[in-house]
Amino acid sequence: VKIYIPCDTTALAMGADEVAKTVEFQSREAGLSADIIRNGSRGLFYLEPLVEVATARGRIAFGPVEPEDVPGLIETLMEHGDVFEGKHPLYLGLTEEIPYLARQQRLTFARAGIIDPFSIADYQAHDGFEGLKRALALIDSAGPQGIVDEVKNSGLRGRGGAAFPTGIKWQTVLDTPAEQKYIVCNADEGDSGTFADRLLMEADPFTLIEGMIIAGLAVGANQGYIYLRSEYPQADKILNQAIKTAYAQGYLGKNIQGSGQHFDLEVRLGAGAYICGEETSLLESLEGKRGLVRAKPPLPAIEGLFGLPTIVNNVISLASVPVILAKGGDYYRDYGMGRSRGTLPVQLAGNIKQGGLVELAFGETLHNLVFDFGGGTFSGKPAKAIQVGGPLGAYLPQAQWHTPLDYEAFAANNAVLGHGGVVVFDTSVDMAKQARFAMEFCKIESCGKCTPCRIGSVRGVEVIDKIISHDNQEQNLELLNDLCDTMELGSLCAMGGMTPYPVRSVIEHFSGDLLKTVTGNE
Ligand code: NAI
Ligand code: SF4
Repeated sequence: VKIYIPCDTTALAMGADEVAKTVEFQSREAGLSADIIRNGSRGLFYLEPLVEVATARGRIAFGPVEPEDVPGLIETLMEHGDVFEGKHPLYLGLTEEIPYLARQQRLTFARAGIIDPFSIADYQAHDGFEGLKRALALIDSAGPQGIVDEVKNSGLRGRGGAAFPTGIKWQTVLDTPAEQKYIVCNADEGDSGTFADRLLMEADPFTLIEGMIIAGLAVGANQGYIYLRSEYPQADKILNQAIKTAYAQGYLGKNIQGSGQHFDLEVRLGAGAYICGEETSLLESLEGKRGLVRAKPPLPAIEGLFGLPTIVNNVISLASVPVILAKGGDYYRDYGMGRSRGTLPVQLAGNIKQGGLVELAFGETLHNLVFDFGGGTFSGKPAKAIQVGGPLGAYLPQAQWHTPLDYEAFAANNAVLGHGGVVVFDTSVDMAKQARFAMEFCKIESCGKCTPCRIGSVRGVEVIDKIISHDNQEQNLELLNDLCDTMELGSLCAMGGMTPYPVRSVIEHFSGDLLKTVTGNE
């Protein structure tokens, strides 16, 4: 019998290795011939470690499984063969029918948790490299422009947070003549509450590799780098193994699948600075320098790595390219709303009952995600604020929870979707402290290049402290607003430029917390 036990960071943190060892031992003891496959996670983190068993009906799930549950589980498997209904307390039915998963629209994460991330054969058996095949055919029939047009047609926008149209970025690189061009994957996933990049890289690394090869073919770049945060050692291990396999199977290197095309790829590790997720400081870091933000222009698409034209795309943007090429731009753009096309992998985190990854077409409301999928708060207390888009994203009050997930709808609320991170807070949160945290985060992570951010964030913490301690509150609130204007308008990059978003959202929507401290009347 085939038994699947995930090997991604979350499942490992929840004890998946111990569960796997116990399953191996107990099944041997019981005389059950078990073939243990270490798959990636399905993204249902609240059920990890999620153990799946292959049956004639499909894969059935048990979770969350602890090592002490294993003997009973093996016994149930031995006794009941294929009939499990009501036979084991952790039995969840067919994995595909778990509502959390069944209601998703998985395009980019279609293979996550299904395949063995180390097996290229498994990848191929699940439509892997279909996008590359189509891209190579397009090169022959329409040249690189054919690939760029397909990506443009899909409506894909940068999933790292800025939502710039990917096809237009690729066009700029294609149109810039140079001897050498680069594809850089931004895998420095630093936003609090986000894990989509990690999950993808650990569950389905060949999708990212395939997306990067296609990007290389599209713009004429034969060298790619994955800039990975060092806090992701498991992703590092899995990616490097997958790259080695892709070379061995002729998908990377000098003559990709006999096409005469050439693409090399390697992983480079960051050193833990949040700002190295900003594309220009990432490039500095990749060149071996300190991660200082560069002024734009020139855009990286024109003068990027080592001064040469470079695509810098987020993991999810690149990993969405294979399905776009395989099924066509029209297929992808049919999902979504307005100018937000395709799907967004939303990451549910913070004070939430059912944390995990939910990939859905744009248009679903934040409320449905947090309450239908997420099941509300973990604490059971009412939710008070939801921060979307990482530490630089706004805190949304209840009145805005029915906003559809759409870049423009969020912008109209002075909020961002960013990389799709959703962090829930219950009524025990003090929003004045959260405003202070935003400024403090900027103070700690600022690269120091420009004054509004370097000095502004320090002054921001001071002024919020004064408000909290009832020192000239009204005057200081005005000063804080003024400082937010200066940071937003005068900062060189999004670090200083977006720190005012969470701060302003607290001033605007949670004035109760701030007024309480301002007037001291409660
Ligand atoms: P940006 O708006 O300056 O640029 C967006 C992208 O489009 C960049 O790659 C830029 O080089 C490119 N671009 C713009 N015009 C172009 C043209 N004509 N041709 C080709 N390329 C062009 O935004 P930025 O500063 O790069 O990113 C800020 C965003 O990053 C924020 O919205 C934030 O949500 C997100 N972010 C994400 C984090 C994460 O962990 N994923 C962490 C922090 C911020
Ligand atoms: Fe550096 Fe902050 Fe200025 Fe960005 S805004 S360049 S992080 S000092």
